[in-house]
Amino acid sequence: MNRIFSGVQPTGNLHLGNYLGAIRNWVRLQADYDCIFCVVDMHAITLWQDPAQLRAHVREVAAAFIASGIDPEKHILFNQSMVPAHAELAWIFNCVARMGWLNRMTQFKDKAGKNRENASVGLFAYPNLMAADILLYKATHVPVGEDQKQHLELTRDVAQKFNNDYKVDFFPIVEPLIFGAATRVMSLRDGSKKMSKSDESDYSRINMTDDADAIALKIRKAKTDPEPLPESTAGLERRPEAANLIGIYAGLSDSGVDEVCRRFAGSPFSEFKKELADLAVAVLSPIQDEMRRLMKDQTQIDSVLRQGAERAAAVAAPIVREVKEIVGYLRP
Ligand code: TYM
Repeated sequence: MNRIFSGVQPTGNLHLGNYLGAIRNWVRLQADYDCIFCVVDMHAITLWQDPAQLRAHVREVAAAFIASGIDPEKHILFNQSMVPAHAELAWIFNCVARMGWLNRMTQFKDKAGKNRENASVGLFAYPNLMAADILLYKATHVPVGEDQKQHLELTRDVAQKFNNDYKVDFFPIVEPLIFGAATRVMSLRDGSKKMSKSDESDYSRINMTDDADAIALKIRKAKTDPEPLPESTAGLERRPEAANLIGIYAGLSDSGVDEVCRRFAGSPFSEFKKELADLAVAVLSPIQDEMRRLMKDQTQIDSVLRQGAERAAAVAAPIVREVKEIVGYLRP
């Protein structure tokens, strides 16, 4: 059976990149896979989070999943910290993965910045926890945006080394699923930076909670160049901001970049931006309405997460039991 695992960090400012690069693809994959979707709160605290905000953000991400079309009855939706086996397996992987592997992770370098000595140990070991998330359920496929590719390569290395070290054929070698026209949505202010929850400028991203006016304003203010829109993908070379906005349009309208170029060939950005804003509002507003409705009933969201966690724990239990046996822990 092919199984999907994927997750989103509850660090606030859930944005269009998370939706187009990940969540929307998950919704579609539900038809063909057995899916586990996780709000990864243990990953979130690798950078300090205000505790009350963290709880609110966990619920907000869960509401966004459901509002986008994740079915928590057919599939599993839960938050990571409710299943302690994630931490247990992550520890074992801390002992399998090599310092050199983690030293090469570009996300650590970006997030730690210049002051690496002051970064948390958790931030450094983060990819091992991610490998544990996936392999705890022996997931075979992981749908993510492009920025997670390197972490998934590390997950494959960890699985392979564990299998070699213990002479077993236990963990699967996972396949990333990176698809759609918007696998890397860029900042609206700078076409060379990815759209990110942590960008200081709110104008850099479209948040899942932005209202229609905010969406239109941010798109109107988005950086562009003075040329009109090109006729084809080739004309987007060295025009990162234009490529980004067209990519977003293609993602939202479920069409190809070339098709969008053909439709808007020669148009000025002012015109294209109006159409893009209308499209973004049309796609996002029903999701936002549903998110708001769900968030009114906190106990309902908490109960979905708790039930999801119980089901996730049940899937993980025999796998962790076997891992502990393989490693040589005494049976409790
Ligand atoms: P996170 O929370 O940063 O992002 C969640 C998902 O959104 C995708 N994404 C983007 N896609 C396109 N354009 C963007 N600008 C953009 N920004 C984010 C991400 O690729 C991701 O799919 N480490 C992960 C969370 C995680 C995880 C896992 C994922 C923890 N354990 C196990 C898969 C499997 C992260 O920080 O995602």
